[in-house]
Amino acid sequence: MTTTRLLPASAVEEAAALLRAGALVAFPTETVYGLGANATDGRAVAAVFAAKGRPRFNPLICHYPEAEAAFADAAPDERARALAERFWPGPLTLVLPRRPGCRVDLLAGAGLDSLGVRVPGHPLGRALLRAAGVPVAAPSANPSGAVSPTTAEHVLEGLGGRIAAVLDGGPCPVGVESTVLDLTGERPVLLRPGGVPTEAIEAALPGPLLRAGPSEGTAAPRGPGMLASHYAPALPLRLGAISADADEALLGFGRRLPAGAAVAWNLSDSGDLAEAASRLFAGLRWLDAEGARLGLRGIAAMPVPDTGLGAAINDRLARAAAPRTPL
Ligand code: TXA
Ligand code: MG
Repeated sequence: MTTTRLLPASAVEEAAALLRAGALVAFPTETVYGLGANATDGRAVAAVFAAKGRPRFNPLICHYPEAEAAFADAAPDERARALAERFWPGPLTLVLPRRPGCRVDLLAGAGLDSLGVRVPGHPLGRALLRAAGVPVAAPSANPSGAVSPTTAEHVLEGLGGRIAAVLDGGPCPVGVESTVLDLTGERPVLLRPGGVPTEAIEAALPGPLLRAGPSEGTAAPRGPGMLASHYAPALPLRLGAISADADEALLGFGRRLPAGAAVAWNLSDSGDLAEAASRLFAGLRWLDAEGARLGLRGIAAMPVPDTGLGAAINDRLARAAAPRTPL
């Protein structure tokens, strides 16, 4: 056990020094908090897998303050350059071929010859990356399989005592993880829907995307991290609920919620998908805690439209509801 320090935004240089020295520092991005490690330091990277209890076959995304720094480690083609130009800084991860001289430790990429890279859009997160001066490997800062953190407090709840520090940047504005796009093959493959809507990516590419993942048709192989059960609260989740029972907690969406649930969290009463995404993980955590306190049977989740950020929300809900298969 170590004591995890909660660092204010003004301590960005100190957080960067900790990272450079090989310590684990959680930091804000526009999507969720990341658990950062110096990606060139094999021991620091190994410590990330240990702190999260993450299977080592699941690669980490490397974070950079600028596209050119990312492209020094991973080789972009024309498509990657166009997408980076359009969406970075922002919630898009590009999986590209590793360059021969790539500085990133092999374990961070789970031994693959590809590398997931992104330039996050959060000003404090980017300031940290700039100050660190090294690529920063960062999965979401939660124990593997659990709900991702969108506040510094969430990080402390899950990883307090196991990491050196959390840099506090307040709540994450987007609230669901980055869109992960594999550009190593001829056809781009969507590995995970996320903060950049799939429609926006398709509009920026000449041809259609292939989709990978547990809930979609298997036109392409799944990414190594596409475990069916993920983002899971402790209580069972019931999808597509149009009514709720007295022994259920309700995850609502829209103006009209069914009556009868013991407690309710509305993702967005105006039906706004960006607001719903930003409130998703905090809502799952709150309903889970209330459900445990009140001895409820489960969480009933109302349907959310599958367009725009709704696709990322539905992906996370489907995984939160999936059977919990032990690794
Ligand atoms: O928004 C985000 O992406 C957040 C913040 C912290 O940046 N990070 C995040 O990391 O969600 P993580 O580790 O929880 O999810 C990364 C996903 C995993 O499903 C992983 O398998 C996939 O990206 N991934 C990373 N590198 C990959 C690679 N080289 N090939 C295929 N998939 C990769
Ligand atoms: Mg994660």
